Amino acid sequence: MHVFLCDFLLDIVQNSLEADSGTVSILIEEDRRMIRFTVADDGKGMSEETQAKAQDPFYTDGIKHAKRKVGLGIPFLKQTVDETGGEFSLTSAEGKGTTVRFGFDMMHVDTPPFGDLPSTLVAVFSYPASCEIVAKRSLSTSLGSGKWEVRRSLLLDALGDLRSSGSLVLLEQYLRSQEDDLDAIRISHDPEIR
Ligand SMILES: Nc1ncnc2c1ncn2[C@@H]1O[C@H](COP(=O)(O)OP(=O)(O)OP(=O)(O)O)[C@@H](O)[C@H]1O
Ligand SMILES: [Mg+2]
Repeated sequence: MHVFLCDFLLDIVQNSLEADSGTVSILIEEDRRMIRFTVADDGKGMSEETQAKAQDPFYTDGIKHAKRKVGLGIPFLKQTVDETGGEFSLTSAEGKGTTVRFGFDMMHVDTPPFGDLPSTLVAVFSYPASCEIVAKRSLSTSLGSGKWEVRRSLLLDALGDLRSSGSLVLLEQYLRSQEDDLDAIRISHDPEIR
């Protein structure tokens, strides 16, 4: 179910999209050892009690899943972070929003592979919520550094309705070309980097 780091990212972003947010921002920062994700929203936020419960797999808000009593996004992420010496933090204030940060050591043998960021972001940007979504990505290795940023409102200006398959194909191609540029910084000359 959670094979890639992007699967965790998608879960955490989905929580923000489900929280009546006006803006959801996604930051992906990678260096030669760590990959760190920050997902911040200005949605409904959580009380301290809900924050504690959210880390329990047998808690869900009772609305999202009509026929199940478990919420697995945050517990799965925490479990994998704990198993691989990664980082996790959640800060939230009711009525103000939530920020979840998590990071993985890419050299740890049990850290899941990164996964397919372009198709993950296509799923995020085409989610049927009307909020602004901003994704920022950076990569820095001994070979150099690069970054890119995508903003949903600008995508809508450029591509129109993101639910049409033509727009989604264009979006995926665009994101993939941005990632290809970063791959050139990441690979081959540095055998320690996978
Ligand atoms: N960004 C957020 N804003 C407000 N509430 C949140 C946020 N993230 C999580 N929560 C609360 O924490 C609960 C648990 O989240 P978690 O992702 O673990 O499970 P879920 O979303 O309920 O179910 P699943 O992820 O399995 O679909 C949510 O039901 C929600 O009440
Ligand atoms: Mg969830």
